Amino acid sequence: MTNDWQDLGPLGALRATALQEVQVGRRTVALSYANGVFGAISSACNHVGGPLGKGRLDGDYVVCPWHYWKFHRCTGEGEPPFEQDRVPRYELREDAGHLWIRAEAATRRHKTPHPPHKLTLPGDRGDGPVRVLGISTTSMTDAQPRYSTSEALLEIALAQARDDGGAETRLVRLGALRFRHCEGFYSKSAQACTWPCSITQMDPEDQMERVYEGIVQWADVVLVATPIRWGAASALYYKMAERLNCVQNALTIHNKVLIRDVVAGFIITGGQDNIQAVAGQQLGFFAELGFVFPPFPYVAHSRGWSAEDMENNEIYVRENAELHEGTRELADRCIELALRLRASSACPAEIARGGRKAHAARSPASAPSRDTAGDRESTP
Ligand code: FES
Repeated sequence: MTNDWQDLGPLGALRATALQEVQVGRRTVALSYANGVFGAISSACNHVGGPLGKGRLDGDYVVCPWHYWKFHRCTGEGEPPFEQDRVPRYELREDAGHLWIRAEAATRRHKTPHPPHKLTLPGDRGDGPVRVLGISTTSMTDAQPRYSTSEALLEIALAQARDDGGAETRLVRLGALRFRHCEGFYSKSAQACTWPCSITQMDPEDQMERVYEGIVQWADVVLVATPIRWGAASALYYKMAERLNCVQNALTIHNKVLIRDVVAGFIITGGQDNIQAVAGQQLGFFAELGFVFPPFPYVAHSRGWSAEDMENNEIYVRENAELHEGTRELADRCIELALRLRASSACPAEIARGGRKAHAARSPASAPSRDTAGDRESTP
């Protein structure tokens, strides 16, 4: 064999694994064995660089472990009808009981252009009225609606924004949306957690897109209302928060600030307690997304640990004029800050990264960052 062929090892050992990654010089190759035939293709997925050799086989297709794109294990072509979307393939030879691979790929990578997702297009906030998005995170049965203290106060805030502040308003009830739980793409790799969200790109039925579009492209103000459930924000709030990881991760891996000059305020109600912890979590999380806050950025209400008479809690919230007034003033403060931010932006388009999440301040001796998708090879 000439020098551009590399010995991968004894055939018997290589036949024992259906799909694996092997190193060929500085390139990582997905080597497969099925039905008596070896196949070798680049291990870097055409999508955002997922490790194909760490995926699984589905017939003669390698399934990417990140978002499940498929490539033929021998030809590198995408699954029908995406054959033109292909990764490089490598020549293999069996000789003297060993498997050999040619170091240079036999074919070139080809990425078929895909139309941009609408969430990647620039938002158009325009010069019109301030836009206020209310997000209610309480849960209830559609056919059997009940009075929700958090949602009732949110409706008061939106009415104030509309009637007194001249704002355009929207209300999103998470309980009415069909959206999937975050499936842990970030846990596979920071690069696997994409903007737009991987689920949103793969599942047109998933309605989390309404939240993304609302907060990234539409709103000047976002008001989030939550009940307190066992000392924490609602389960729907956390379901939404997990899906918003992709907004924060766009900053972590691409230094892309998706939320700029958008104001957040919070409405927190609980029959019992833990307002400060719920507010603290919300302020920390929304600050990390890029939101800014007015002075005194939340209104909250709780009657304490021993108040089990929830029917009286409902009456209290329905009838408490001071609580309603405090909620209206929160809407006013948010709109006032939004108008100031329209006149004079306060939020950077980029931030210094050293010391930021996932960006340790490096010493000169540290290993270089693997910061770009698809750097598993230089593509031929
Ligand atoms: S499907 Fe391979 S990286 Fe997304």
